[in-house]
Amino acid sequence: MPDPRPTTGRPPQIKKAADRSALPAGRGMRPIAPVFVAVLAAGCAGPQSSFEGAGTEAVSVANLFWVMLAGAIVIWLLVIGLSIYATKAHPAAHSEAKGIRLIIWGGAVFPSMVLAVLLTWGLTMMPDLRREAEGPRIAVSGERFWWRVAYGIEGEPGVAKSLPSGGVESANELWLPVGRRTEILLGSPDVVHSFWVPAIAGKTDAIPGRVNRLVLEPTRKGVYNGVCAEFCGDAHAQMGFRVVVVSEDDYARYVEAQGQPAAVTAGEGPDRFVDRGCGACHTVRGTPADGAVGPDLTHIASRRTIGAGLLETTEANIAAFIRSPAHVKPGAEMPAFAMLPEAEIDAIANWLGALR
Ligand code: CUA
Repeated sequence: MPDPRPTTGRPPQIKKAADRSALPAGRGMRPIAPVFVAVLAAGCAGPQSSFEGAGTEAVSVANLFWVMLAGAIVIWLLVIGLSIYATKAHPAAHSEAKGIRLIIWGGAVFPSMVLAVLLTWGLTMMPDLRREAEGPRIAVSGERFWWRVAYGIEGEPGVAKSLPSGGVESANELWLPVGRRTEILLGSPDVVHSFWVPAIAGKTDAIPGRVNRLVLEPTRKGVYNGVCAEFCGDAHAQMGFRVVVVSEDDYARYVEAQGQPAAVTAGEGPDRFVDRGCGACHTVRGTPADGAVGPDLTHIASRRTIGAGLLETTEANIAAFIRSPAHVKPGAEMPAFAMLPEAEIDAIANWLGALR
């Protein structure tokens, strides 16, 4: 006997199901899910990951995150279990008193207890994370769109124009001694930036007209990525830097070496650099170039990147940057010098590429 129920009630759904079953095994949507998760999870590792645990603060915050995540999963399962129980296992109406009890315990008492425990735990973490620095003090100023760095600054840094006062200047690469609590004094001459090294600690804003303090305590040697975490203008996304964590001895040697004048101060390169006005914005110690608008280039070749974390430091990349900074890094404040003869650009790039 034929089935009396109408078969045309929901035709699109029936058709869809039939289509999917027609696919060969393993060719449907399902295999995409693990790939998607794997791609997402890959973003959790590497030199810019806050899960890598290369600093005391990053480790504490990551622990807090994992505990909260585990707790959230347990509570989610509980809520889903309750909904299934209420709709499937025991769908009959519950008494009003039972409903009120559930709201008081499940909706008020339980969340308050969980939040109180988390708050207490978070507060107990604070004293250790906010301990005074006993290591070096380094001034870091957020510029448009790069980072000015000054080691061994004396007294309080000035904030009128740009932060560092005295000390050994560098840019876009911050060296830190492992195991020491280093104080970073943050400022900016014009717009707000945010200094963030995810693998080591949380972010802190660099605000014009004031000095913000951040203590970094790296626990593992290595090279980590830092970023600007506050929209500051056109090249905000290209305002990165490297953090190099080394032993205390290597740190002292590095600062000492950075304090020296440039390795080469005479020849075609430095002559053209000065003639063509590059020295109005950049300093190369040991030459007449003493500008303070752009990054100090005295030891540019010792840095891993140029353009604030953008390009590997090679002569070719330096030449490309001189020709047209805006092409390499849209929004960069430096004007283009493509009108210079190629031989002059090459001479300048060749010289800068040798300033280790
Ligand atoms: Cu500097 Cu965003």
